[in-house]
Amino acid sequence: MIENPLREGLRLERIPEPCTMVIFGASGDLTKRKLVPALYSLAQQSLLPGGFSIVGAARTPMSSEDFRARMKEAVHHFLDPGQVDSRVLENCAAGMFYTPIDVKDPGSFKRLSELLSQMDQERGTSGNRLFYFSTPPTLYAPLTQLLGSVGLNRSSGWTRVIIEKPFGHDLASMLALNKQVLEVFREEQVYRIDHYLGKETVQNILVLRFANGIFEPLWNRRYIDHVQITAAESLGVENRGGYYDQAGVLRDMIQNHLLQIFTLVAMEPPVSLEADAVRDEKTKVMQAVRPIELQHMDQFAVRGQYAAGAVNGQPAKGYREEKNVSPDSNTETYAAIKLLVDNWRWADVPFYLRSAKRLPKRVTEVAVQFRKAPHLLFKDSEPLQPNSLTLRIQPDAGITLRFGAKLPGQSIQVRTVSMDFRYGTSFGKKSPDAYERLLLDAMLGDSTLFARGDMVEISWRLLMPVLDAWQKTADHFPNYESGSWGPRESDEFMQREGRRWRRL
Ligand code: BG6
Repeated sequence: MIENPLREGLRLERIPEPCTMVIFGASGDLTKRKLVPALYSLAQQSLLPGGFSIVGAARTPMSSEDFRARMKEAVHHFLDPGQVDSRVLENCAAGMFYTPIDVKDPGSFKRLSELLSQMDQERGTSGNRLFYFSTPPTLYAPLTQLLGSVGLNRSSGWTRVIIEKPFGHDLASMLALNKQVLEVFREEQVYRIDHYLGKETVQNILVLRFANGIFEPLWNRRYIDHVQITAAESLGVENRGGYYDQAGVLRDMIQNHLLQIFTLVAMEPPVSLEADAVRDEKTKVMQAVRPIELQHMDQFAVRGQYAAGAVNGQPAKGYREEKNVSPDSNTETYAAIKLLVDNWRWADVPFYLRSAKRLPKRVTEVAVQFRKAPHLLFKDSEPLQPNSLTLRIQPDAGITLRFGAKLPGQSIQVRTVSMDFRYGTSFGKKSPDAYERLLLDAMLGDSTLFARGDMVEISWRLLMPVLDAWQKTADHFPNYESGSWGPRESDEFMQREGRRWRRL
């Protein structure tokens, strides 16, 4: 049986069976930045099985020796110097191999298959395989098909495949990709990764709600006025202009990360912490979200694109000046949407989701704003702020409860104060990187923190009217300065709702 750490209240000392992880796209950025450092870190905590092996696969010709050297360098570069133990690193590197692969050359997949069989014999990996698709998304379907054609979709042990986002570009392409993947693998073998679900603070949403007696009774329309979920980034599109200009922030952040967070905040308590029990509830709440209708688009969605400006005192280019971005691009770098959930818990409680690039700082948070006190006794006081509970996901992870308190003195003056919990000071322990948790879970066969096909489908279905409407019309872009809090239209959108965006 699969062990589930949340269910058992403890996640340490779960060691997967010996296995091989094959990384397609091994010469790319994600492998260097995230995957191999996360695997190293797991090895250092003795969480990887003996015989664990990595096979890098990409088009770039390279020997296993070269691959090892590159990966060692990446670990040194992307982890803090104090974190790297050279003995552990050498040991990890000894289990790394490389094989060139090309989707136009089926022979290269046969060679991969032979290499994997050989490793089963020599390194005792017993046919347990984890394939990681870290390639451009256009290769997901051909890779799946080729793996199937050489019989690598099953083995004498377990076979699983992790697929990076974006899973589809729109509803039609998502459905097509899902069909192609499920022709070769069973749903239980497919792990659609969303790295936000691996973040400690995102998982803490479930703990806050369901391990405490005081919050859940308030978690409904009687007490909550609305919820704001924000993922603000200060960075621009960096060197990903080519991808981003085809995507935009709705696809890049909201369709996956923010909707995943939304489901954790809004779902009903699951009957257990089994993967499907949790994912059933997430899917159900997505099904309860009211479809966004074209004729009411302005009441549900607003967008923007950054102009030149300054962020953190540094000059920043406009989006249209970025490398590989069209000079008259209509792609949004700012988006906010309103979700209404048609069920008993949430009727008439809006959830506002916003995300953007080139805002003044990087902050991801969920802010639950409570209704005002029903009767105002302290009439002479300044207007009271509503109570709010903020779950800070990053940076400075923690939780803040805001409420009114009496200002010392003879008169009754109420001021807003905060009660604060900070991960850093309370636990004095660094949270593991999201990829560590997710890679380990995939090796253990625990798919709780991965997106199931039906949920991904519903999220695309929900956003399609907005994507279609935005594609058909051009806006007055750019409409916000880099380093500002977004376009005026977005503030007006909230004013029409009788509310305000939180200043972060
Ligand atoms: C990625 C997006 O999924 O998430 C990026 O493609 C974004 O555009 C990134 O910058 C944000 O992740 P994090 O973990 O830095 O908040």
